[in-house]
Amino acid sequence: MTFNNRTAFITGAAGRIGKAAAAEFARHGVKLILADIDMEKLDSVVTELRKITPEVYGISMDVSNQKSMEEGFNEIIKRFGKVDILVNNAGAWPKGSSLETSFEEWQKVINLNLHSVFYLSKLFGEKMKEEHYGRIINLGSIAGVVGLHNFCAYSVAKARVMMLTKIMAMELSKDNITVNSISPGMIADKKKPCNGTWLGRSGTGDEVANAILFLGSDDSSYITGADIPVDGGRTLGPHTEK
Ligand SMILES: NC(=O)c1ccc[n+]([C@@H]2O[C@H](COP(=O)([O-])OP(=O)(O)OC[C@H]3O[C@@H](n4cnc5c(N)ncnc54)[C@H](O)[C@@H]3O)[C@@H](O)[C@H]2O)c1
Repeated sequence: MTFNNRTAFITGAAGRIGKAAAAEFARHGVKLILADIDMEKLDSVVTELRKITPEVYGISMDVSNQKSMEEGFNEIIKRFGKVDILVNNAGAWPKGSSLETSFEEWQKVINLNLHSVFYLSKLFGEKMKEEHYGRIINLGSIAGVVGLHNFCAYSVAKARVMMLTKIMAMELSKDNITVNSISPGMIADKKKPCNGTWLGRSGTGDEVANAILFLGSDDSSYITGADIPVDGGRTLGPHTEK
């Protein structure tokens, strides 16, 4: 995989998928700026990844807060000048059917999983335009493809992330910026049996990270507006026989 002296910024980097993606980028010599709301966890990720490459930096950012995103963005541009690869990964999936979900909870879930993607892509997209290069990778979910029963707000947020991906891919194409999404299925720390998938098991953060790495690399130059399912076949037809 080719990376021509690139810098990546990953949100939610203290979590399962974000940390795995950061480790892959680190192994490929990409300079890393990692953000999370949980600084204790993030600090230990930064310490661990610095054993692979010294160029790993952590910043505190709450992606559900506009001011925090703006402050983080300004700090990053001041310290590092540019970001070539943006991975909008931070997210959470509180359970709740449409009738159970309060209006406040609805707004909170949409804000964290969707508005953050819009606003960070807008801030960094503007900067990528100046560089005439960029890779934006948004974390979707099978919830946004087929819907997850009892995860109403989350499913709606992730479906909208996929539409935002397509619209921004069209808009930023003239500036040599690609925008794609990845829709993981059930991802756990270890592979474990999972009946709903054709591969018969859950996936791991590393398996999602491989797709993020590819979309973030120079090699994915002719792919934009696409969604890559990393779901063991969960969104294929019903798993009725094997
Ligand atoms: N794990 C799965 O099965 C799965 C499936 C489909 C999609 N996804 C998506 O992949 C992404 C990463 O999931 P994961 O499994 O690594 O989750 P995770 O819970 O392990 O990590 C999420 C990280 O985001 C951080 N975070 C939460 N709220 C934040 C905020 N307001 N500001 C900044 N950081 C915040 C958390 O502290 C955590 O470190 C999410 O967008 C999730 O919706 C995950």
